[in-house]
Amino acid sequence: MTTGKGLDISRGFFVTAVIYIVIGMMIGIGMGATQNFALKGAHVHANLVGFALMTLFALTYRSFPAMAARRLAQAQFWVFQLGALMMNGALLLMLSGIVSEARIVPLLVPGEILVLTGMVLFGWLVLQDAREV
Ligand code: HEM
Repeated sequence: MTTGKGLDISRGFFVTAVIYIVIGMMIGIGMGATQNFALKGAHVHANLVGFALMTLFALTYRSFPAMAARRLAQAQFWVFQLGALMMNGALLLMLSGIVSEARIVPLLVPGEILVLTGMVLFGWLVLQDAREV
């Protein structure tokens, strides 16, 4: 997964996306089987932030190698990964009732801000480097 210039970002996002959707589908199957939909928010965010967005990132980086080669792209990858992990983990802990809403805020809110930051970085990279083709 690493190259001379660091992590292969496209592959990193593809692999992580599959991990998220496997977890998201397992939550979905669990909800259907128990008819308890409390974890719907965790299911939706694992599938959409975890799988759908990361797959879009992976495809975009694969399409624009100049964008993937930027140092900022490595930062975008890790900022988004950390944010997605914090946010999805926090949602799962909160919605399953393991940790109260009040106590999860210090994990959830920074996670959300990191996800937003990763998205803004991605937008900036697209504006800068997704020009060829
Ligand atoms: C094994 C695959 C999946 C299963 C078993 C599953 C199961 C479920 C269940 C049981 C619900 C709750 C429905 C309700 O509230 O009545 C739900 C909601 C939802 N799922 Fe999935 N799901 C799967 C895959 C996906 C995927 C791949 C996505 C998106 C990429 C997705 C996106 C959503 C969304 C957005 C909702 C919320 C719908 C709403 O509240 O209107 N699901 N899913």
